[in-house]
Amino acid sequence: MFEDLKPAPADKILALIGLYRADERPNKVDLGVGVYKDSAGRTPVMRAVREAEKRLLADQDSKSYLGLAGDTAFNEAMAKLVFGANADTARIRAAQTPGGSGALRLVAELLKHARPNATVWVSDPTWVNHIAILRAAGLQVREYPYFDAETGTVCFDAMLAALKGAPAGDVVLLHGCCHNPTGANLDAGQWTAIADLLVEKNLLPFIDIAYQGFGDGLDADAEGLRIVAAKVPEMVVAASCSKNFAVYRDRVGAAMVMTANAAQADIASSQMLAGARTLYSMPPDHGAAAVRMVLQDPALRADWQAELEDMRQRMLSLRQRFAEALRRQSNSDRFDFIAGHRGMFSRLGLTESQVQRLREEHAVYMVGDSRINVAGLPENGLDELAKAIVSVLD
Ligand code: LMR
Repeated sequence: MFEDLKPAPADKILALIGLYRADERPNKVDLGVGVYKDSAGRTPVMRAVREAEKRLLADQDSKSYLGLAGDTAFNEAMAKLVFGANADTARIRAAQTPGGSGALRLVAELLKHARPNATVWVSDPTWVNHIAILRAAGLQVREYPYFDAETGTVCFDAMLAALKGAPAGDVVLLHGCCHNPTGANLDAGQWTAIADLLVEKNLLPFIDIAYQGFGDGLDADAEGLRIVAAKVPEMVVAASCSKNFAVYRDRVGAAMVMTANAAQADIASSQMLAGARTLYSMPPDHGAAAVRMVLQDPALRADWQAELEDMRQRMLSLRQRFAEALRRQSNSDRFDFIAGHRGMFSRLGLTESQVQRLREEHAVYMVGDSRINVAGLPENGLDELAKAIVSVLD
């Protein structure tokens, strides 16, 4: 059975975890996997989540099945968090999923079922797992231009032109905020133009929102998604709680579908849940139950939002200070774009071999495409890091 099997290629992002751990150099710097870190390099359990977990432990009286959609109160709270308090929830259905990746796969399965020949357009570049998940569900993938590496900004005209050429009925995957891997985001005017194009060309928006609250704030980060939702008849969404609730290993996410009317929403939801049944049957409860409690309890929610805001501010200030350090060390404005980006990532624009040299010569770990996790920047070693980066430039 297995004698002809070749080893699977290592995931470009996750492989860095093992490499970094095995490195014994004391001054090593981890800018790899997208996990928030505080100034001590820790990824703490958020205060409100910990409190919710204590209550769960004290009060939970059964671990019996909840059902294919998981925790329905969690689903309602997530739909509101993402679509906003004024959303037309009669047309929206959500299903709790194992993480954002589970949501992506569940939505992909629904798309495959609804339109087997659909092509999903993804940004160039996008999160590597997007393409793998879409293909695993049997969907075709094409790319639209997104990032101008020279300026570190979105090449919006080229993006719009490419999407204008997409056949009606195709799907367009958009990052709700905090674009991964580039950190370059659409502004409200650009979201409006995209939404108008989606309507005009009859393209289905598929929005992945995995960093809500990490960019400009909880509501500001969902603004683009809400602009689209107000204009289009149908859309699909994959949301992750991994980062904004820091429940990475508990696997908490939600797949959502918005349709033209409530009856269609029920049908789409039933297909989504049938997909879940064959993929994993039912999602794990613990993390989602804690998130639901945080979202429902005003005091816990306020504390969660305050802590999330502190995390966001820390990343913003690190961006600013790192851009300044790079300006000092390189005597150029080449890296100024980092300060203008939002979210957890920026792409520095280095070659694979420069990234490799940083790892081998300076114990600095980043993804091969030179994506850095801003939260991993060493608060007290920014100039040293900037110097190392400048030293590998041609
Ligand atoms: C990342 O992009 O680093 C995170 O989303 C973690 C992952 O699963 O790749």
